[in-house]
Amino acid sequence: MIIAVDGPSGSGKSSTARGVATKLGLRYLDTGAMYRAVTWSALEHGLDLDDTAAVAARACALVLSVSTDPQRAQFAADGTDVTEAIRDPRISASVSKIATNLDVRKELIRRQREIIEQSQPTGGAVVEGRDIATVVAPQAELKVLLTADQDARMARRKAELADAVTAEQLRDQIVRRDADDATVSQFLVASDGAVEIDSTHLSLEEVVDVICRLAKE
Ligand code: CDP
Repeated sequence: MIIAVDGPSGSGKSSTARGVATKLGLRYLDTGAMYRAVTWSALEHGLDLDDTAAVAARACALVLSVSTDPQRAQFAADGTDVTEAIRDPRISASVSKIATNLDVRKELIRRQREIIEQSQPTGGAVVEGRDIATVVAPQAELKVLLTADQDARMARRKAELADAVTAEQLRDQIVRRDADDATVSQFLVASDGAVEIDSTHLSLEEVVDVICRLAKE
């Protein structure tokens, strides 16, 4: 079984997707982390992010190790553990540029489909991102579009970033990335058969429960 969970920044899709995967005993794939890892690597190599060919070549050469354990997020890029580094505001500020590079998308979508395929023998995966239901896995048995209004998304991100957050970082994490992600958002239309869940007034447990119930139908 494949469950696609798509949604914008701060919609709660990571916690939701991890919760659903844990509860249903499925693997978990965070596709956003893969775009972040490519961003990390491009910056590490000092690439000009506007040089689309160089960035795409980097994405293709990158040895990316992605944990699909919902209880243990871990990502390595060319042998370096980048689990924490990819959450840095520096990466958040540049990731949309990387995500609008069509050759990078092509390469990452290919790898995402491989990881999804590998999850099949053990029951499948919950896959979170922006274009899962529309592009990566349109065959998913359950497609969820998770939304929440901008104030709720800012409040959640603020709680995640704890005390360290400045107003500038918060704007960068939500408002600016919504704008930067406008190109990516062409994939964010509700796909055929997707269930839209507005989590503005729901707790994490409630959203997880709704999705698990839908998965069992
Ligand atoms: O921090 P947040 O949960 O919003 O984002 P993320 O899931 O870590 O994804 C980071 C960025 O990767 C997004 O802002 C998109 O630009 C891009 N992305 C994408 O284009 N397609 C995906 N399937 C997942 C992420």
